[in-house]
Amino acid sequence: MNPKHALVIGGTGMLKDVSLWLTNEGFIVSIIGRSKSKHLDLVNKASHPELINSLMVDYNNHSLLEEGIRDAIGKHGPIALVVSWTPSLPSLEIANNIISEQSRKWKFFQIKGSRRYFNDDSLNVSSSCEHRSIYLGFVIENNHSRWLTNREIAQGVIKSVIDDSKQSIIGRLHPYEKRPKY
Ligand SMILES: NC(=O)c1ccc[n+]([C@@H]2O[C@H](COP(=O)([O-])OP(=O)(O)OC[C@H]3O[C@@H](n4cnc5c(N)ncnc54)[C@H](OP(=O)(O)O)[C@@H]3O)[C@@H](O)[C@H]2O)c1
Repeated sequence: MNPKHALVIGGTGMLKDVSLWLTNEGFIVSIIGRSKSKHLDLVNKASHPELINSLMVDYNNHSLLEEGIRDAIGKHGPIALVVSWTPSLPSLEIANNIISEQSRKWKFFQIKGSRRYFNDDSLNVSSSCEHRSIYLGFVIENNHSRWLTNREIAQGVIKSVIDDSKQSIIGRLHPYEKRPKY
């Protein structure tokens, strides 16, 4: 049987460990990001580099995005799981439309910044898509608040994928006025 195919949008940045975890779970992982050096760094860290399909595209270039996802599906089969860190809803709608043509059931973990917990944009997804929201919060420790580290974000996203809850928060969002000032 072919391995399952996952797509990680923005998978070479703070989601790097999520991309690597998915390969360890046996997924073929198509990863979107623009920088070649970030892709190479990720491949060099992988225990299973053969399971990584680097898609060096700018997701704001919609024709290249569409071509990249179609090519990934053509090579590695329908996509079963998407993890995304992008604020670009048009890019996500394109991904949704292409993936839904081939996948009868797939999961989409959409990572969002803290503000969107209080004022969210609605994304239209197809009926074959099981959509989950993961909000990135902040941490209060020793009376001091700070944003999440890359490690906390990646570990939190992995837990949210395993738990498969419709909505999850990494860190905290309340009291919101205590969030770090940038
Ligand atoms: N609540 C919180 O605590 C919180 C929330 C958000 C972020 N952060 C922190 O802030 C840091 C920076 O955040 P960040 O948003 O820059 O995330 P990042 O994960 O460091 O970078 C974004 C990812 O998306 C890719 N990307 C960005 N624009 C793209 C485009 N147009 N087309 C294709 N791929 C694109 C990047 O690769 P390329 O640049 O190569 O394209 C990278 O893989 C993070 O490291 C995190 O620790 C904290």
